[in-house]
Amino acid sequence: INQGNGVKGLSELGLKALPKQYIQPLDERMCMTNVVPLESIPIIDMSNWEDPEVAKSICDAASKWGFFQIVNHDVPIEVLENVKDATYRFFSLPADVKNKYSKEHSSSNNVRFGTSFTPQTEKALEWKDYLSLFYVCEEEASALWPSICREQVLDYMKKSEVVIKQLLHVLMKGLNVNGIDETKESLLMGSMRTNLNYYPKCPNPELTVGVGRHSDISTLTILLQDEIGGLYVKNERDNWIHVPPIKGSLVINVGDALQILSNGRYRSVEHRVVANGSKNRISVPIFVNPRPGDMIGPLPELIANGEKPIYKQVLYSDYVKHFFRKAHDGKKTVEFAE
Ligand code: SIN
Ligand code: FE2
Repeated sequence: INQGNGVKGLSELGLKALPKQYIQPLDERMCMTNVVPLESIPIIDMSNWEDPEVAKSICDAASKWGFFQIVNHDVPIEVLENVKDATYRFFSLPADVKNKYSKEHSSSNNVRFGTSFTPQTEKALEWKDYLSLFYVCEEEASALWPSICREQVLDYMKKSEVVIKQLLHVLMKGLNVNGIDETKESLLMGSMRTNLNYYPKCPNPELTVGVGRHSDISTLTILLQDEIGGLYVKNERDNWIHVPPIKGSLVINVGDALQILSNGRYRSVEHRVVANGSKNRISVPIFVNPRPGDMIGPLPELIANGEKPIYKQVLYSDYVKHFFRKAHDGKKTVEFAE
């Protein structure tokens, strides 16, 4: 049924009904009666990010919500627009060109075109195509990444580094960890991955998901979304709330690695994406991660204060492997570090 052009190919066949592989069990479908309409994650103006009040709102948002949006950050709007255009260009390529980057054909694990999340282990598939680009160095990106989006993705990653460092600086200070030396910087942001996500319009969107419930395994995730909407986040009472698109903003969320490093102070929160019945949606997350070879556990500065570690030390690459062995299953990966 899948002609190698992912769910985009299925969408473009103009199917009247959703193929059964994509039908999610009832309890994984988004039920709009569980959505709290009048609540929203904080919106933080980054122009005065060092102001103690702004810093406090960042740390509070990371503890209470695990999610917030930033505006007036210094990633130029053109850079964001360019990477969105590049995303459309990539997915518009003919199937055989995109499939040069599929699991079967890609010359490297660092570049991957795929559909759903872990199709081999999922009971029901997710209505999403993606290109995942793990950054090693400029030379490798030049040699391996598709030229149709390479420069725009590299520029987006490079320009985002400033705000990533500002956020990590503030979040560490909020834990009384002052100054980020080289070792700590590498632990917090030593490796990065950018995904280009494409969620085509879907027949029977209420029967499936764009992305199932999960928490990210990153330190932080920086997400650019277009104007369509569809990302939902769990609040403290386990209700779902929508993350409305705001032009020029970036959505920031705490991942499992930061929850573990902060000994639970900052929360990595469950989220999901619904499918859309009338529009195609794109999003472009940057996953800011520890290096695969790093051991992650509660930061020594926290433990030195006499705090009891609630997580053990784990090798980050083992954590990543554990995540990618399972289907999206809510927030279960973190149990690996308990
Ligand atoms: C994800 O969390 O995997 C994707 C988020 C989005 O597309 O908005
Ligand atoms: Fe996510």
